[in-house]
Amino acid sequence: MSDDGGGRPETATVLFTDLVGSTALRQAVGDDRADELRRLHDSVLRDAIAAHGGQEVKGTGDGIMVVFGSAAGAVSAAAMMQRGVDRVGRRAASTISIRVGISAGDVVWEGNDCFGTPVVEARRLCDEASADQIVVSDIVRLLAGSRGGHEFRSLGALELKGLAAPLAAAEVAWAPEQPARTPFPAPLGGVEAVRFVGRIDELERVWTSWKRAQAGDKRVVLVSGEPGVGKTRLAAELARRAFDEGALVLFGRCDEDLAVPYEPFVQAVHAYVGACAPDELADQIGPHGGDLARLVPELAERLPHLPEPRHPRNGLPGDGLGRIPPC
Ligand SMILES: Nc1ncnc2c1ncn2[C@@H]1O[C@H](COP(=O)(O)OP(=O)(O)O)[C@@H](O)[C@H]1O
Ligand SMILES: [Mg+2]
Repeated sequence: MSDDGGGRPETATVLFTDLVGSTALRQAVGDDRADELRRLHDSVLRDAIAAHGGQEVKGTGDGIMVVFGSAAGAVSAAAMMQRGVDRVGRRAASTISIRVGISAGDVVWEGNDCFGTPVVEARRLCDEASADQIVVSDIVRLLAGSRGGHEFRSLGALELKGLAAPLAAAEVAWAPEQPARTPFPAPLGGVEAVRFVGRIDELERVWTSWKRAQAGDKRVVLVSGEPGVGKTRLAAELARRAFDEGALVLFGRCDEDLAVPYEPFVQAVHAYVGACAPDELADQIGPHGGDLARLVPELAERLPHLPEPRHPRNGLPGDGLGRIPPC
């Protein structure tokens, strides 16, 4: 690619994106949240462009125009963009989606902009695509071949505004990322060999508390009783049922002779810090990372840029750095 005012034609793959319903999103979530989502959207797009060797040509208001040297690279970047935007939406519990159009052929560079029929086609295919869709011209499908292992579904010939002849097009199948799931805590497992019996009232009460917690009414349930009466088993039964519904289950315990302050919490968070992907962890702990790292120092190792603790020392035992000494 060159930027020497009006050069020879070059074969290129051109990609356009468009953020769907950006005005409605702004109305729904407010300006601050919409700006934040916009930044996350931009960084998803930038990462996908960099990962597949694209060159960003220009912004188009709610999207971007990118040129790739490889058709398969452009399709892979589009799929990565869709997965990334889907991840942003899921984490933010917001509906945010993009459409993508791609075409290929000869283009001409003028300055830092690029022109030609493939540019017009890609723009029109993007306009034609629905939310979450990637639509490519058939030439892109042919050029990509089997590279990248993408699945193309024919859309037939599309009539596109401003183009004389219908354009054969296909959509690219993509699947959302499956977030890694924190496993069920091992110490609570392995009891299923003996079926849970009775305890109908107790189970009903803890289950009701779980349902109320799910509705946003935070709950703590304390179970007391003689040793061997079935406290751990009741907790394990609730945990298993909640886990089967998709809940995150963390486990910690302590002995009567306390060894580490806050030990059950330290154990529970420690296990989670080890199991969770760093960016998901960062999302979840939000501004509390500095405080939590005093209980679980591994957190600071996994996320080096934690905020300062919001409650200095906070009455916790520890050294001058706010860390709790090992027992
Ligand atoms: N409702 C139940 N159904 C089946 N087995 C149970 C039940 N409650 C307790 N048990 C079994 O009895 C034993 C002691 O229970 P446990 O939950 O460890 O008691 P606690 O925690 O109160 O000391 C365990 O082997 C447990 O699996
Ligand atoms: Mg017990």
